[in-house]
Amino acid sequence: MVCQPDQHASTTRESGVLSSGGFGEIRSVIRKKYAEVAVSAEGKFQYPVGRDGANALGYDPAVIQKAGPGLLESFCGVGNPFSLGEIRQGDVVLDFGCGGGFDLFVASLLAGDSGRVCGIDLTEEMVKRAEDNLSGADTANIEIRKVDSEDIPYADNTFDVVISNGVINLSPGKSTCFSEIYRVLKPGGRIQFADVVLENELPGDLAGSLDAWSQ
Ligand SMILES: C[S@@+](CC[C@H](N)C(=O)[O-])C[C@H]1O[C@@H](n2cnc3c(N)ncnc32)[C@H](O)[C@@H]1O
Repeated sequence: MVCQPDQHASTTRESGVLSSGGFGEIRSVIRKKYAEVAVSAEGKFQYPVGRDGANALGYDPAVIQKAGPGLLESFCGVGNPFSLGEIRQGDVVLDFGCGGGFDLFVASLLAGDSGRVCGIDLTEEMVKRAEDNLSGADTANIEIRKVDSEDIPYADNTFDVVISNGVINLSPGKSTCFSEIYRVLKPGGRIQFADVVLENELPGDLAGSLDAWSQ
């Protein structure tokens, strides 16, 4: 995946190339890609995904062992947000872009019965996959909602921790992602996110490519 700056967000496609327009078409491309990933993440990224990805990123082996095969099959995180700080029993946690639900599952175990874990995702198929993946698990403290934009459907000062894993780079509205995350965090709350950043200028053909948003 590549991370593109906000100024590209006001562009959209002409024959697969970014030109003037809105965010809608970028979101359509993201949804199309992640509808496919919801079936299986295998072979759809340039980094390890699934069980291999979770192992490589240092997730707790005992938690990987507990996760159902579906949670691991759809896992496509780029890092490990849980390595950045402790989630405590009783915490209220938001997973911004929860995908197939593996990070929700991990957060649910850490927050415990006295905590609450909320997942939001842009892609209907991913929301459905997360619901299916978690239906057999003992995860009564989880709720999942589909969203249509970067707006977070929760009140100000709701969460102790917001986690996110490979999501903000996909967004055409990065400033809104951060302002929304800060809005829903309680005072003193934390954001723990893993993501992809661009270190060098992209070559012209990639910089103008709509498909590059989701790679
Ligand atoms: C790399 S995956 C997340 C992996 C996930 N944490 C897991 O445990 O498998 C990225 C997810 O972000 C979602 N997404 C992209 N843009 C979003 C946005 N603006 N708001 C919410 N979700 C978004 C995609 O639909 C996709 O499911």
